[in-house]
Amino acid sequence: MTGPRIEAILSLIEPSKTLADIGCDHGFVARAALKKGLAQEVMLSDISAACLDKARRILAGDPRASFTVGDGFDGLPKEAERAVIAGMGGRVIAGIVRRCPYRPALILGPQRDIPFLRGELNALGYRIEAERFIKEGGRYYVLMRAAAGRQDLDETARRLNALYTVKNAEFAAYLAYLRDKYGKFPPTETNKKILRQIEEAYVWQR
Ligand SMILES: C[S@@+](CC[C@H](N)C(=O)[O-])C[C@H]1O[C@@H](n2cnc3c(N)ncnc32)[C@H](O)[C@@H]1O
Repeated sequence: MTGPRIEAILSLIEPSKTLADIGCDHGFVARAALKKGLAQEVMLSDISAACLDKARRILAGDPRASFTVGDGFDGLPKEAERAVIAGMGGRVIAGIVRRCPYRPALILGPQRDIPFLRGELNALGYRIEAERFIKEGGRYYVLMRAAAGRQDLDETARRLNALYTVKNAEFAAYLAYLRDKYGKFPPTETNKKILRQIEEAYVWQR
């Protein structure tokens, strides 16, 4: 099953030999990546054996897929060229990336703590190359692609989008949503600062 969020994740995957789907749960991302020819081989992993069993069922018998129960990249049969880590909090994702002994290209779908994750990626030697802002089921999802490299992120970039100075219609719509949301919150110093950062980012989207 795919929807706009999974389609957006797929749009960020560059064709690879080996793709890891970390925290795969049902395995829909890995299955769709194989179907679209985005990977020759997929390595699905999940910390929960019960979740991984769902993926085993939908990819049953496909010799291009392997399955590992473990934390993050632990126990994968080989190094992944690219990895999708989506549907978890930004702090959990950052921990998984930090514990990985090498630097695969990443496609990330953090559900919360997104500014924290951008900062951690920066500190771990990653450069965020693309961000997408996707609405599905009445909520927004932020998705990003990162690769080993350097990048200077100011506070607005960490808060809203590493590429906030690049014109992007999806991001402009996301900013409109955030402006409306934070406009309704109590005017605390933090909320006023976030509103100023939203306006600062808007300047680049006109
Ligand atoms: C909400 S599901 C996301 C499924 C899929 N990645 C997606 O985006 O649709 C989150 C999955 O991450 C797994 N998970 C959580 N922490 C993990 C970790 N440290 N290592 C591997 N898997 C983890 C959970 O067991 C769960 O199956």
